[in-house]
Amino acid sequence: MPHKAPFLAFGGWVASVPKNSRNQEAAWDYIMWYANPENSLHDVVTPGTGINPYRLSHFAQIDAWTEVFSRTSAAEYLGVIQQSISSPYVALDMRLPGQSQYTGVLERALAPLFTGEGKAKDLLEAAAAEWEVITDNLGRERQLAIYRASMGLTGPPARPRPGGAIGKQRIKIGFSQATTTEPWRLLFNKELRREAAKYPEIELLVRDGQDWVEKQRDDVKEFIAAGVDAILISPKEAAPLTPVVSEAFNAGIPVFVLDRDLSNSRYTQFIGGDNLEIGRAAGRYAVKLLGGDGVASGNLVEIWGGMGSTPAWERHRGFHEIVDQESGIRLLTPPRDGDWKQDNAYEIMIDALEKHKNIDLVYSHNDPMAYGAYLAAVDVGREKKISFLGIDGIPAEGVHWVAKGILTATFLYKTPGDEAIRQALRFVKGSPVPRRFTLPTETIDSSNAADILQRAGIQ
Ligand code: FRU
Repeated sequence: MPHKAPFLAFGGWVASVPKNSRNQEAAWDYIMWYANPENSLHDVVTPGTGINPYRLSHFAQIDAWTEVFSRTSAAEYLGVIQQSISSPYVALDMRLPGQSQYTGVLERALAPLFTGEGKAKDLLEAAAAEWEVITDNLGRERQLAIYRASMGLTGPPARPRPGGAIGKQRIKIGFSQATTTEPWRLLFNKELRREAAKYPEIELLVRDGQDWVEKQRDDVKEFIAAGVDAILISPKEAAPLTPVVSEAFNAGIPVFVLDRDLSNSRYTQFIGGDNLEIGRAAGRYAVKLLGGDGVASGNLVEIWGGMGSTPAWERHRGFHEIVDQESGIRLLTPPRDGDWKQDNAYEIMIDALEKHKNIDLVYSHNDPMAYGAYLAAVDVGREKKISFLGIDGIPAEGVHWVAKGILTATFLYKTPGDEAIRQALRFVKGSPVPRRFTLPTETIDSSNAADILQRAGIQ
């Protein structure tokens, strides 16, 4: 399965004032004037400037773009840029001496691909050989050191070893939760605390990032300063939280990453569901609902979770791997970040309902958003014509909604809290743990929802 990493071609603009400028104040004033929301919006939609969007407000005002694009093209253009800006795997420009030599070689080497000559593998191997020569000429050791620094890595790579807490009377574990707004998070916390309470030697510190990456970064820094024996983290977003986790890991603290992944793998273990597989299961379910393999047809709305987090991307990719094989299935909406929240999904769905008379199916990256989309459809009297698919499957929400016929199906995304405590404890007491621990999933629809509720003691 190829791993897609969009190139950050539109990362923003930098304006600077030279130190020897005679009128620095006026220069800053001018920059502030042309970069303010109103003037900058005018610039980015004026043909001929060559200026790409660079403020968040440029993305929000799609109407302004219809001066230069059709509405659909504008939505696609902004959608693609927004996707690359928010992708947890985004590829940056190379930040190395010799950058133009490296990219020049690559562009020339790959050119034959566009005229159908040559095989990608052979051409890439030829380019790699030329890169080695450039690296040798510029000095391999120095290039490596600069490359590590450009990735935010300092000092020699360390790796925490199992057994860090052997002989200790108290084991301090810091848990950094992304948010506590969704019931899924509350269940996650409850199971984690319940498991930790079984071991009197564990001292548990729990911090809530409050849906805010800066707060979550500070929480991890607090754990590092407190000298914890292990850190558990469910990161709100990948890119902004990767450096602080690498810092903890490089300092020898075992780190367990839960549910949402980071942009590198400098941690001890990842615990979570297989989001790619869950996306595929939802895709297969959608194809079945819309008529079956090879003949499925219908109009689809996809409601994205947080675009800076890995589950949203994997749920998207897995789903499209399946439904995109059906020529009769049409995706109606451009990608828009729903940040996992019911109220955002409500707004996104209201927009979709206004623009599209026929919607057959909503695929939502979690249950709260599927429910938000359902409420939007209820408000315009169209809920009976639409099937809603969600993900999470906790009894109090998704399973309950399936049992009531609000959602057609949901897919279990098991909460990782209890397992995280068990794995962290094993490791600090001296046993190695696997790099990834995958939690099980299950399809939940009218055939099993009532049983699941009964087992969970909910009627
Ligand atoms: C809760 C949540 C879940 C979702 C998970 C993805 O914050 O949005 O609904 O499955 O996070 O990371």
